[in-house]
Amino acid sequence: MTFTLTTPLYYVNDKPHLGSTYTTIACDALARFMRLQGEDVIFITGVDEHGQKIQRTAESNNVSPQEHCDQTSIKYLDLWKLYQIRYDKFIRTTSQKHTNLVHQIYERVKQSDDIYMSRQKGWYCVGCEEYKDGIDTKDTKQCPIHKRDLEWRDEENLFFRLSKYQTQIEELVNTDNFIYPRARQNEIINFVNKGLKDFSISRINLTWGIPVPDHKDHTFYVWFDALLGYLSALYNKDEEICINSIEQFGWPASLHVIGKDILRFHAIYWPAILLSANLPLPSKLFGHGFLTLEGEKMGKSTGNTIDPIDLFSNYGNDAIRWYLLKDIKFGSDGDFQHKRFIDIINNDLSNTIGNLLNRTSSMTRKWFNNKIPKEITQTSNSHPIRSKAEDTISTYLEAIPELNFQLAAQSILELATFSNIHLNEIAPWKLIKQPGNEENVALELYSVLEAIRIVGMLLNPLVPELSNRILSQLGEVNPKQWSNYLVWGILKPGSDLPEPNPVIPKIE
Ligand code: MSP
Repeated sequence: MTFTLTTPLYYVNDKPHLGSTYTTIACDALARFMRLQGEDVIFITGVDEHGQKIQRTAESNNVSPQEHCDQTSIKYLDLWKLYQIRYDKFIRTTSQKHTNLVHQIYERVKQSDDIYMSRQKGWYCVGCEEYKDGIDTKDTKQCPIHKRDLEWRDEENLFFRLSKYQTQIEELVNTDNFIYPRARQNEIINFVNKGLKDFSISRINLTWGIPVPDHKDHTFYVWFDALLGYLSALYNKDEEICINSIEQFGWPASLHVIGKDILRFHAIYWPAILLSANLPLPSKLFGHGFLTLEGEKMGKSTGNTIDPIDLFSNYGNDAIRWYLLKDIKFGSDGDFQHKRFIDIINNDLSNTIGNLLNRTSSMTRKWFNNKIPKEITQTSNSHPIRSKAEDTISTYLEAIPELNFQLAAQSILELATFSNIHLNEIAPWKLIKQPGNEENVALELYSVLEAIRIVGMLLNPLVPELSNRILSQLGEVNPKQWSNYLVWGILKPGSDLPEPNPVIPKIE
């Protein structure tokens, strides 16, 4: 079975920010983990390029919408290269294959008798690209999320019969394993229980969209178009676009990772469109929280922003990935704090993991002629570091599929801390001075080196570059798959340790 994983398709109204970087890093960590576990992974990301918001941004920049989209999607591609995001598919919703696919789905939805023409009246937020039903517009005519004025719309639109799917969607959102984290499931259940209303899937007077084939003055509503990007992403070439073959290309998605603000589109509208088009539903949705910066909402208008490119230039990939994945519980809101960031990187990566590697390899070099010392098997089976390492592996292997990157990272760190404390307690520098202790010290150092190897491997999905540097200091390389390596006793006694090299510098 293929593991098909998606990030949201990011709007190209602006360059990528820390929020989109965060989601994409988390998905990349999960995709890397699944590959190491031997799964066939399709990791999809991409950009959402249509709609009024993007058309207006292009106008204000005095470029055509297409030029604007071309320029901004390159910024996403460049950023993912910088952060070593190993996606398999990058979809642009302005691609021809996407338009073809949208037209095919529209035909299917029409055949299910789920499209009709009606009048849509209401207050629209261009920022959300959504009609705002629940707002009491007597008091305020502002979008609570974007804090900008809502616009009155009264137009003929094509509607999708969402109400027809009330029972099926109710059942779906009530199942135990569709919406994660569980805390977000209730919001969705409450919304569905109020009764689903049909929603408009086309716009008039908006040229920047995919044309509706049988209604020349309509373009598709950006959300209808964007969600379908998860399907068109799977095809490589235009000629392959035939919706009947979608399952061969990796549909349904195993997991959509999205921010909490767009969970409703994914938990309700999206499954209903798929049901109408007779296509299988995604298995799971995960709605993560929002990042703030130094306690405040991020935003261009307030100047409270942080450019992921600057962050990268200052601190590099490992530090940013480690901080975001370890310090913020994926699913909850989190705050990016500079001082905390520096403390965490110095404590976890330099002082704990880097230092463990340095001190152990320098003792090994000094007393064992630069070679991995010999493990004494009779006693090593019950060595405390071995038991700790085995517990760490099982905690980690349960945590990552649940997207609990924080627990996974903490478990790695605990193994390194435990090994450091163990070294302090047994003090091999004293033991070695007493005659007859060489074998004993060899066993201890072998155990710590094995723990470091396991730390290095488990770090791989989270901080791939650091992981590679740690393993290469042990003369090891990262395996393509983990199956035979996540066990105790892989390091070969007698093999040479490479020249020492610091793996992570301290941030001043
Ligand atoms: N284009 C739609 C998604 C279509 S998916 C078929 C969209 N784009 S977006 O660019 O506005 O938002 C993309 C993602 O970024 C959303 O999941 C949103 O929750 C997330 N974030 C926006 N601001 C964020 C933070 N401050 N923190 C974390 N994620 C945030 O919605």
